[in-house]
Amino acid sequence: MKRAKIAIIGAGNVGASCAVWGAEKELGDIVLIDIPDMGDVTKGKVLDLAQCGPVDRFDCNIIGGSDYGPAEGADVVVITAGIPRKPGMSRDDLIQTNVKIVKSVSEQVAKVAPQSILIVVSNPLDAMVYTAWKTTDFPTHRVMGQAGCLDIARFRAFIAMELNCSVEDISALLMGGHGDDMVPLPRYTSVAGIPVTQLIKPDRLEEIIKRARMGGGEIVKLMGTSAYYAPAAGTMLMVEAIVKDKRRILPCAGFCDKEYGIGGYFVGVPCVLGSNGVEKVIEVELDADEKKLLDASAAHVRELASIADKFL
Ligand code: NAI
Ligand code: 2OP
Repeated sequence: MKRAKIAIIGAGNVGASCAVWGAEKELGDIVLIDIPDMGDVTKGKVLDLAQCGPVDRFDCNIIGGSDYGPAEGADVVVITAGIPRKPGMSRDDLIQTNVKIVKSVSEQVAKVAPQSILIVVSNPLDAMVYTAWKTTDFPTHRVMGQAGCLDIARFRAFIAMELNCSVEDISALLMGGHGDDMVPLPRYTSVAGIPVTQLIKPDRLEEIIKRARMGGGEIVKLMGTSAYYAPAAGTMLMVEAIVKDKRRILPCAGFCDKEYGIGGYFVGVPCVLGSNGVEKVIEVELDADEKKLLDASAAHVRELASIADKFL
């Protein structure tokens, strides 16, 4: 059977880390692309990574540079091109610069890989997914954003730290946009099947939820730039679900029209991911408080998308 081809556009911290995970997991052949000024650096990163193959024993072709030609016919395209935030900046502050970058990248992708499944990572995430969708005009099931896999990983990590137990046993749900108003859902979070609300007191759980919401900013403050290992791991989890047709249920920025009353935008929701991309958006029951939080987060996403629209 033919190996999947995975193109990663933007070979910076997140993009290069995605390539590492993709190679380590042997998800397919990898094409890493950046701007011409970064062409040699990108070629260097690709060589460096290819030379890990004999050590870690993975078999995949890894190529890269600034030419989109090698991405022709890619099955999955991951867009990480764009500027990251610096301390004091919100994700929303990146919109003006990144909407132009994501638009120009999406135009190239639509030309060379018109049948691909697109996973956008660039921030502000939900508005950049919208930008890529508007630019490529791909069917909505072939366009999605990565944020929830990261945000939920942070929530799960903090719960595991609190309970001093394995992260593997924590299952959680989180919805909404990739902003500080994202909506972790403790009612749908459990530890080896035990509702987390039975294990952590409400006040402490609220602190953990707050830390998960602000988890991106916590790392920006420490590093002077945004996180990349966990964002890349989350992204490649989505790629894996697609190339292996695993039908995993993962929190992704998926297109919601009637779902949750969102009305035609990409917002973080539980999605079934398989070889067709988003196979289904799952609608879970939300109580009045949860719905209020999701509505507020979705309103923020709509506002950002309307700003992106002005640059399209
Ligand atoms: P970075 O600065 O390390 O890498 C970005 C790369 O994009 C650079 O190498 C740059 O040359 C490249 N680039 C810029 N314009 C391009 C173009 N037109 N075509 C191709 N490549 C282009 O930044 P990093 O840390 O990799 O972050 C990338 C983006 O991902 C940022 O917008 C960041 O906010 C976002 N991000 C999103 C996360 C999420 O969960 N959705 C998590 C972490 C970062
Ligand atoms: C994060 O949450 C910056 O969106 C990125 O780490």
